[in-house]
Amino acid sequence: MTGTAADADGALGFPEGFIWGASTAAYQIEGAPDADGKGPSVWDTFSHTPGKVRGGDTGDIACDSYHRYREDVALMASLGLKSYRFSISWPRVQPGGRGAANQRGLDYYRALLDELASHGIAATATLYHWDLPQELQDEGGWAVRDTAERFAEYAALTAAALGDRVTRWITLNEPQVVANNGYRTGDHAPGLRDAVAAAATTHHLLLSHGLATQALRSAGAAEVGITLDVHPVRVSGGAGSDALERGRLITDAMANGLYLEPVLHGRYPVHAPEAMLPAASLIADGDLETIRQPLDFLGLNYYSPIFLRAGEPSDLRRNENYARCQVPGVVEYLPEDLERTNMGWLVDPSGLHQILVQVSEQAPGLPLYVTENGRAAEDYVNPEGAVDDLERVRYLHAHLEAAARAIKDGANLAGYFVWSLLDNFEWGWGYQKRFGIVFVDFGTQRRIPKSSAHFYSGVVRANAIPLLPGS
Ligand code: FCB
Repeated sequence: MTGTAADADGALGFPEGFIWGASTAAYQIEGAPDADGKGPSVWDTFSHTPGKVRGGDTGDIACDSYHRYREDVALMASLGLKSYRFSISWPRVQPGGRGAANQRGLDYYRALLDELASHGIAATATLYHWDLPQELQDEGGWAVRDTAERFAEYAALTAAALGDRVTRWITLNEPQVVANNGYRTGDHAPGLRDAVAAAATTHHLLLSHGLATQALRSAGAAEVGITLDVHPVRVSGGAGSDALERGRLITDAMANGLYLEPVLHGRYPVHAPEAMLPAASLIADGDLETIRQPLDFLGLNYYSPIFLRAGEPSDLRRNENYARCQVPGVVEYLPEDLERTNMGWLVDPSGLHQILVQVSEQAPGLPLYVTENGRAAEDYVNPEGAVDDLERVRYLHAHLEAAARAIKDGANLAGYFVWSLLDNFEWGWGYQKRFGIVFVDFGTQRRIPKSSAHFYSGVVRANAIPLLPGS
């Protein structure tokens, strides 16, 4: 596993200084929901509402990283990771989402940052990974504009307290998921099913990103960006037809453009359906300029593409789904030849190549980071006490290869963070889905690096993709 498969022109090597890391999020790993003055977040409320999360799981304990962060940082150091992407829990810093900072909450993150610094691991801190203070939700959450102003205040005071230790700031994680799953379909916190609120949420989240970026810069932050989930749209079987092309444009606007275009270009995409766009009355003069702040980088989370083909929405075939674009004669489908993970998500590394090249074309010169990529699998501890997650090793290998090819093809990729460092609370799925490169025994909190952790560590140390076992 140590040999380097880089070919003569170094196709599988990565540029010098490439940032290798792992990602987590506060609610998914920390536990300690009311420690040291923390207020409740929407995810505390949601997970404690019967029927919302599989098996009634909550983040009350999760990986107990609030208490075990030293062990987790040591683990990262042992794997040779260069950066840790974690998120800061807003209700630890401001229990009710406004007003003075809760010093004990900040102290926790300062201790974590000190620990990272002592191991030479750069901090990539996300300010918002979905855990809105419940008190702000009670006042309307992201459906109201004031929440964007509150977020900028939180960003300012967090940067003032912790900025000297943070290398890279990410304002928001996947605002699309907050608007869609949190406010439109309701399978995430706060569990609303309100299309009008969802469209308003999109705008207020984007605005909060712009305002927070300004606040971070005023506080002296060096590197500021945002993380968007991206979904390359792929068309087959009759590509070239007008309906499919229209379906592609609309799907791309819904899944990607709705966030990419405002952030990069200060406009909402022309192909987005009206129902997803914020009402004109919500867009104040200057908002789109605020949203389009110069960025130091863009974070992309990639899991799966969206496939479209000609089909009859009223007569769906096996592996076909109703198309979100609602163009007659177009369906979404899951290609038979692609593997699916136990989340049901397609495995398609070429989608990563496509989206990295595409976004680099849209934003020439802007450094990109893959801030999440990974897969769930049925991991178990074998009789030897090891977790041999070969599917994940293969997944990482293939996606890293795609990333290396994308760099060769012009993508401005500066780093890669695997999702996730640890098995953790997978939102509505609770603890049933394991994404970690490190196994967590939730009964004992024992951590066991999986085969994928050893594989990834080899990549990080070589700055290149090592041979797969048996290849
Ligand atoms: C992303 C989330 C992350 C994790 C992965 C599997 O959408 O940002 O927290 O749940 O999916």
